[in-house]
Order: sequence, then C-alpha cells, then structure tokens
Amino acid sequence: MVKLDAVNPASIEEATRRVEEQLDGSGLNLVINNAGIFSDVSLATVDSEEMLGAYKTNVVGPMLVGQAFLPLLKKAAQGSSQKGLSCSKAAIVNISTVLGSIERVPETFSNPAISYRCSKAALNMLTQCQALSYAEDGILCAAVHPGWVQTDMGTQEADLPVDESVRGILTVLPTLSEKHSGSFWSWAGKTIPW
Ligand SMILES: NC(=O)c1ccc[n+]([C@@H]2O[C@H](COP(=O)([O-])OP(=O)(O)OC[C@H]3O[C@@H](n4cnc5c(N)ncnc54)[C@H](OP(=O)(O)O)[C@@H]3O)[C@@H](O)[C@H]2O)c1
Repeated sequence: MVKLDAVNPASIEEATRRVEEQLDGSGLNLVINNAGIFSDVSLATVDSEEMLGAYKTNVVGPMLVGQAFLPLLKKAAQGSSQKGLSCSKAAIVNISTVLGSIERVPETFSNPAISYRCSKAALNMLTQCQALSYAEDGILCAAVHPGWVQTDMGTQEADLPVDESVRGILTVLPTLSEKHSGSFWSWAGKTIPW
C-alpha cells in the first residue's frame, strides 16, 4: 500500500517514486483513478469554493496522477508483446459516474449534485483527451461508472454491495480493447453516452 493524496503534487510524486521502487525495473500496467468527492448541492446552494474543490479532486487529481504515472505506463506498454490496447498491457481507468453523462441528465437530475456532476463531466472529457493523447504510447483510457454502491458516498441505501460493483468492473476491464479506448462503461458492461 502506498499513500497518495490525489490533490497534492508532492504526494503524487512521492507515490510514483515508491511505486517505481516496488516495480524494480518493470512498468505499471493499470492506474485506476478512484478517489472522488461528492456534495449534495443544488444550483441554489452551490458556491465557487464547492465547485473548485470538486473539480480539484475529481478532475485535476486524475489528470495529475495520469501525467505522473505515464512513464511507468509507457514502460509497461513497451515491454508488452500484446498487440493493440488492453488493461493488462497499459491502461488508465477513471472512475466516473452516470451523473456526469450530459445526455443522461434529464433521467438523473432528481439528484442535482451540481459540483459533482459538472466535475465528473469534465473527468469524462479528460478521459477522451487521455485516450487520444496516450493511444500512441500503447495506453488504453476509459471511464467506468461503478453503479450506485453501498459506500460512505453511496450510503447503505444504494443498490449494490461493494463486492458486486467491484466484481462487475473486474469483469468489464479485461473485455476492453483498442476500439473501446475513450469510451464510458457501466460496472455491468453497458456503454454509457457521454
Ligand atoms: N458510491 C457510489 O454510489 C458511486 C457512484 C458513482 C460513482 N462513484 C465514484 O466511485 C469512486 C469511489 O467512491 P466511493 O463511493 O468509494 O466514495 P467514498 O466512500 O466517499 O470514498 C472515497 C474515497 O476517495 C478517497 N479520496 C478522496 N479524496 C482523495 C484524495 N485527494 N486523495 C486520495 N484519496 C482521496 C477517500 O479517502 P479518505 O477516506 O482517506 O478521505 C475515500 O477512500 C468515486 O470516484 C465516486 O465518484 C461512486
């Protein structure tokens, strides 16, 4: 276990250094950007501090982590004999949410969560940009919605126990290939519109 504060560049740098030591010359195959924050705010209650805080953790963090681990991901891709892109070769998976889908807003707006959904929509954009930028390095990039999960964030009223969501995600990831880079998946293996 290596500690990493995803909004602190010095902490990310320290974590990459420690991971590199652990890898002992090998590359890193998979980065999952899971850290995220949620606030139950509407347009009537959200303020700039709340927006910027959500953006920092939910978008800037995954961007910085992707940049920092890029050399190790590239190394994994270069050292792999696999053709195309895959999560077992080299990949960045950004844990997003259906609340970040602009197309699905009319269905999901009963929970406005303005700062959360705007920051996750930006994370979805980041995912596409990473996919296009890092494809030439052999790195697959995708966004994944874990479902409504029984965590501190999701509460115990959520649909899914953590293990079911995680099992679903671990089933989806090995099915992703080159044609899926820059796409948005649910834990159940369905694509979600941006
Ligand atoms: N639960 C759901 O229903 C649901 C639905 C859709 C998407 N998601 C997404 O799934 C991911 C995981 O959420 P969760 O449900 O597990 O939420 P959670 O119960 O609130 O846990 C969030 C985790 O993120 C960590 N974290 C927050 N800021 C961080 C930072 N700056 N650096 C490092 N770690 C940080 C927290 O660490 P500390 O405990 O140390 O603060 C905590 O372990 C999030 O990206 C969330 O948006 C969740």
